[in-house]
Amino acid sequence: MSYWNLLDKLDGLDKLEHPIRLFCPIYPLIITKCPIFAPRMVKIRDIELGDFPLLLAPMEDVSDPPFRALCKENGADLMYTEFISSEGLIRDAAKSVQKLDIYEYERPIGIQIFGSEIDSMKQTAEIVERTNPDILDINYGCPVKKVACKGAGAGILQDIPKMVKMTAEIVKSTKLPVTVKTRLGWDDNTKHIVEVAERLQDVGIEAISIHGRTRKQMYKGEADWSLIADVRSNPRMRIPVFGNGDIDSPEKAVEYKAKYGVDGVMIGRASIGNPWIFNEIKHYIETGTHKAKPTVEDKAKAALRHLEMSVKWKGETLGVAEMKRHYTNYFKGIAHFKETRMKLVTSFDLNEIRETLQSIKENADNYEVVI
Ligand SMILES: Cc1cc2nc3c(=O)[nH]c(=O)nc-3n(C[C@H](O)[C@H](O)[C@H](O)COP(=O)(O)O)c2cc1C
Repeated sequence: MSYWNLLDKLDGLDKLEHPIRLFCPIYPLIITKCPIFAPRMVKIRDIELGDFPLLLAPMEDVSDPPFRALCKENGADLMYTEFISSEGLIRDAAKSVQKLDIYEYERPIGIQIFGSEIDSMKQTAEIVERTNPDILDINYGCPVKKVACKGAGAGILQDIPKMVKMTAEIVKSTKLPVTVKTRLGWDDNTKHIVEVAERLQDVGIEAISIHGRTRKQMYKGEADWSLIADVRSNPRMRIPVFGNGDIDSPEKAVEYKAKYGVDGVMIGRASIGNPWIFNEIKHYIETGTHKAKPTVEDKAKAALRHLEMSVKWKGETLGVAEMKRHYTNYFKGIAHFKETRMKLVTSFDLNEIRETLQSIKENADNYEVVI
């Protein structure tokens, strides 16, 4: 074993730090207490998020309380609810109201709202405040036609003055810290995110998450993080800037952290069926090595708990139906799994699905993981 390898094993510190550490006994004290060296704490108002927070992205029909419970246990530093329609909340629509459910163990948690009418959004902010989340997030990124074409979500990227005005009004109407999640622009000709982020900061938002695509791109192509980096390096920006889009591995999180200088990353699709991704990234950042992957048994156990929590929270019919999208992801990359997967995704019988998951758990050692 080489000298450096030995030191790596001893304390997992970066190579350049070893000589200092060896010859300076108070080094740990300096590195943790001195403001010049101590890792920066990312904060949204007084919410401390660590030096490089990992955020669970808001995802409709995915980032509900059952899924959030699993992500929280596995290291998510800040989570957001699914987006909630402003008009739905004002009308007291059951589906919208249910999305307001948040739990103490989830903190810090943000509730995300969307809408196109400034007055309704202000009213919605007041409703949200009464449920006492840590953060109110505004969705200016949803590309779906029925949302964007009505001027909500990413639709507002076609009317920046309205976006700024709506944000200012919402900030004024609530005591909660307001954050924004948005995209680079409406299309390739309107990627004004650097200016937009600054204007939103000026009217009082306290963090911004940017998905590196335009509305026109929907989810196609690769997310472009270069403009997110430009927002972050704008000397006028004081608030945390979180990057979003295509983070699907510890390596990518570390690479993008270094390359684009963001304050943290927000993870969406790669967490579906893989809530372990948050701790995997943290472990990789801390040690440079990979955390052991969840076993088939771990996956079956998680899927079972997820199912039980979903049924408890949404009722049997919806709970069973909405779990379907998760199974394919939980059991990705397992050889000869097609038949079992089909059973999971086609059955609507709760007990049958339970039995299938239980059987995967009990026979976990017989499955071969190929990726
Ligand atoms: C199923 C699904 C639902 C989504 N719902 C929302 C939502 O409610 N609010 C929102 O701001 N973005 C939503 N998004 C977008 C994600 O938050 C995220 O910006 C996008 O998936 C890109 O990140 P990723 O590459 O890590 O998945 C959704 C995405 C997916 C796949």
